[in-house]
Amino acid sequence: MFRRNMMRLKIIGGSSSQALAERVARELGQSATKVDVRRFPDGEKYLRVLEDVKGQSAVIIQSMHPAPDEHLLEYFLLVDMLKDLGANKIIAFIPYFAYARQDTRFNPGEAVSFKTVTKLIEKTGTDELYTFDMHLHRVRDISEVFEIPAHNLSAFPLLADHIQRNIRLRNAIVIAPDEEAEQWARVCAQELKADYDVLKKRRVGDERVEIRPGAMNLTGRDVVMVDDIISTGGTIAEATRAALQLGANKVVIACTHPILAGNALAKIYAAGAETVIGTDTVPSAVSVVSVAPVIADQLRRLKC
Ligand code: R5P
Repeated sequence: MFRRNMMRLKIIGGSSSQALAERVARELGQSATKVDVRRFPDGEKYLRVLEDVKGQSAVIIQSMHPAPDEHLLEYFLLVDMLKDLGANKIIAFIPYFAYARQDTRFNPGEAVSFKTVTKLIEKTGTDELYTFDMHLHRVRDISEVFEIPAHNLSAFPLLADHIQRNIRLRNAIVIAPDEEAEQWARVCAQELKADYDVLKKRRVGDERVEIRPGAMNLTGRDVVMVDDIISTGGTIAEATRAALQLGANKVVIACTHPILAGNALAKIYAAGAETVIGTDTVPSAVSVVSVAPVIADQLRRLKC
């Protein structure tokens, strides 16, 4: 019964998540469905799925990084192609979901891009959506944002497990660089059987933040600093500097989405961090943890 269900799932990796799709397919004992993706000379994209998808459920794995707009459009082309060819259900795994930070009008006249992107994803025919550690600041749950069934998975149990197995920690404490990251610090602290604390962050520009201490004494402690996204590295670099100034022995950084724009990684090491790890929601030099087992687990539970 289980095998029959799985045989009907087509695992399709978009251009940004090909390796992750292969890993997921391998976890499920199958191969990813091949799609020919090319560009016409004028820059338009050409897509062709090389297997029959009629009457089957299709799982599209496509992160929105790098080049969020390009990968978003490719995602829409994939969904519409698969529906048009008779796929009966489209299950999206968008491991890194871009635009979630622009979820409100911070200044008059701004686009609320998050709303636009969620609407387009629903309108083009996605039946169910999964993502990881989505940047949800002004809503409590992803289901408040989408009308289709939507699930926000977390990579932090996997990241904590990796830390536990590979990094020697003494007198560890998990630190969130700001209040929003407290949710991930709590999970990580629970897995590592450590305390956690929250620093206070104030953003003073796109790349600059100010960090003030939390409540706990960091003297002589090994700090595991956690965040959902490292983009410019400004937040984590400043928080690392603060932790070391407060007496931390060393700082290990863990994030779900290592976007690492520009010289972010160099900035973080220059601030004194010992190690940076992330996941393959965004392939990068520090993506040492794969979220494939979590995706495969979800797919095993689906009745398609
Ligand atoms: C913000 O609230 C997020 O959780 C991250 O802290 C932020 O996106 C990191 O951005 P950056 O690396 O540019 O400081």
